[in-house]
Amino acid sequence: MKIGIVGGTGGMGEGFALRWCLKHDVIIGSREARKAKEVAENYTNTAKQAYGPNVTIAGSITGDDNISLAKNSDVLILSIPYEFIDDMCSQLSKVVSNDCIVVCPIVPMTRTDKGFTYIPLEDAKRPAGELVAERMAPRSRVVSAFHTISEVKLKKVDLSLEADTYVCGDDPAVVAKLNQLASEIAGLRPVYLGPLSLSYQAEVLTPMLLNAAKQNKLKHPSLRLV
Ligand SMILES: NC(=O)c1ccc[n+]([C@@H]2O[C@H](COP(=O)([O-])OP(=O)(O)OC[C@H]3O[C@@H](n4cnc5c(N)ncnc54)[C@H](OP(=O)(O)O)[C@@H]3O)[C@@H](O)[C@H]2O)c1
Repeated sequence: MKIGIVGGTGGMGEGFALRWCLKHDVIIGSREARKAKEVAENYTNTAKQAYGPNVTIAGSITGDDNISLAKNSDVLILSIPYEFIDDMCSQLSKVVSNDCIVVCPIVPMTRTDKGFTYIPLEDAKRPAGELVAERMAPRSRVVSAFHTISEVKLKKVDLSLEADTYVCGDDPAVVAKLNQLASEIAGLRPVYLGPLSLSYQAEVLTPMLLNAAKQNKLKHPSLRLV
């Protein structure tokens, strides 16, 4: 499967690439193709070192500009900050193929003197999943997930995450494909919350988690329903 990561040069992009290159062709996206290619080369070297000689990396990590990779991706991960959804999606929506799945891990979050807060609640803005669904129509192809996964843990490929990720989407076939991809990350359990209109419930967990971490000196905590 071809997995394109828009904004893949950031920390989450690295984590996704290192995990999924075992089975898939991952394309790191950037606004600059040259940067994407350099970063992809670095991630490839990191993957080879981290997995060692006894693990076969059956996929690959390459780089391209965000728009070019979107044309060729079966799955497109939007790994960019909330502020840039409008601008980026208005360009991506013109080129993605009809059967491409769009994944939104975006958390609309900011840091204030109270602690981390959820932007839609504080500033009367839209949840990330809703904004993406509107910009990347049809909404049936959009699924939201991975909000509460720490990039630090994702990048440690020998670490089993022992965590849930909360998944929202309108089309059961799209959700099933996302669940399969999520399950390929060691120790990650996808837990379905409901339609995309409930994405805010997954998104808001991240500022909660970071506040708990800060106040209680917990290192990169994650969530699991028991
Ligand atoms: N970090 C985490 O632990 C974590 C956990 C859960 C969810 N998330 C969510 O996952 C997403 C990615 O997180 P991240 O920490 O990897 O993000 P990030 O490092 O802040 O940004 C990712 C990439 O976005 C691109 N970018 C920056 N400004 C842009 C613009 N104006 N237009 C288009 N692209 C732009 C940059 O790539 P180029 O400069 O190469 O274009 C950058 O490398 C975020 O939405 C975040 O809320 C993060």
